[in-house]
Amino acid sequence: MTQDEMKRHAAWAALQFISKDSIVGVGTGSTVNHFIDALASIKDSIRGAVSSSEQSTAKLKQLGIAVLELNDISELSIYVDGADEINGQKQMIKGGGAALTREKIVAAVAKTFVCIVDSSKQVAVLGRFPLPIEVIPMASSYVSRQLVKLGARPVLRQGVITDNGNQIIDAHGLHITDALALEQQLNNIVGVVTNGLFARRPADIVLVGSGNGTQIIK
Ligand code: 5RP
Repeated sequence: MTQDEMKRHAAWAALQFISKDSIVGVGTGSTVNHFIDALASIKDSIRGAVSSSEQSTAKLKQLGIAVLELNDISELSIYVDGADEINGQKQMIKGGGAALTREKIVAAVAKTFVCIVDSSKQVAVLGRFPLPIEVIPMASSYVSRQLVKLGARPVLRQGVITDNGNQIIDAHGLHITDALALEQQLNNIVGVVTNGLFARRPADIVLVGSGNGTQIIK
């Protein structure tokens, strides 16, 4: 089975967690694109979706799924999104698709976060995947210098502007043993909008697609 087929398996398995008449939080990325295809198959039984990116919004609308504004709803039962890495505590690195800030906002509102990944995303220690950090453009050099002090090798992602008009710095070379502390520490650097560590708000349920089908981790 290819990696993309494993992603598709995990994505379709997420449908079992979608309740009738619910509003569904939708993440961003290639795994989520499979989930949006799956969601389209039950679009008449849900109220709509809240999207985490312009990319996902376009695909949702194209498939006829109503897209609602987060500010117009008071609660969200479920959020479904992929990850770049996930550890045994269901903490994640996200932001490979540069959508981390909106993803973190929608995830914060949702009661349940269902993470859909292929088995290559499971790690013992987070950090082999460079940690994405969204920064206000005028602060990118300052933030990079602070990241060097923390032992990271910062690389400005060339040619990428986020949906919020900001830049992404990818922090290479981190071996993240205390994700909660690092998430907080990075957020305290002036100029950082969000970092891609999802430790304060980890996943609740992980669906791992592999050659043997999809494993559910609760
Ligand atoms: C986007 C993300 C994605 O969830 C993450 O990059 C995984 O993407 P993919 O499903 O394409 O492997 O955080 O900002």
